[in-house]
Amino acid sequence: MSRSTTPIHLPTPLVRRRLLLGSAALLAAPVFIRQARAQSRLALTPSQTEGPYYPVAMPRDDDFDLLRNGDRRYGKGQAAWVTGRVVDPAGQALKGGVVEIWQCDEDGRYDHPRDGSRMDPSFQGFGRVTLNAEGAFRFRTIRPAAYSGRTPHIHTKVKLGQKELLTTQLYVEGDPGNARDFLWNRLSAAGRAALTRPYVPGSDGLSAEYTLVVQA
Ligand SMILES: [Fe+2]
Repeated sequence: MSRSTTPIHLPTPLVRRRLLLGSAALLAAPVFIRQARAQSRLALTPSQTEGPYYPVAMPRDDDFDLLRNGDRRYGKGQAAWVTGRVVDPAGQALKGGVVEIWQCDEDGRYDHPRDGSRMDPSFQGFGRVTLNAEGAFRFRTIRPAAYSGRTPHIHTKVKLGQKELLTTQLYVEGDPGNARDFLWNRLSAAGRAALTRPYVPGSDGLSAEYTLVVQA
């Protein structure tokens, strides 16, 4: 019985070249993946001033429903769901984060001594919710109202533990006051797009959805 002297399992030069190219592609793949991820990172939501009316003391009722303050119900204005998600630039939910909102009542009054503490006592002008596992939040409130010198807006903060990650303001798409508002005008086109959303009529009042991108 004769034995072949040629090792038949060795790849031919062409196959070797393909194998080498394949290995190079495998080694390079993580670089491509990193680049693709870097390119798809979301822009951080722009911050805006806190303004003078952040609560000096937390109200007794500070839940998601601003249309009920204790056992009072607020019936003025246009009821609205203000909803959304808080994510990091990679699109991952900010688990355990807290979103706060505060706004004036339908008559433009804040619950704050610097505004004479004249807010309608039925309106819960401040609310706070913990994000769920998907980073989602929702508040029951009114479509924000205008007051002297400002277009309608809702103030908001995102916190993680004691750390404040974002303070900004949420606007209403299509409101004629936006173009005259000094703070709205300071936003870039991308910032306006992120913070100015439509209030869409539905069976349960209006609803608006915001995505807030923060760096934890
Ligand atoms: Fe304000």
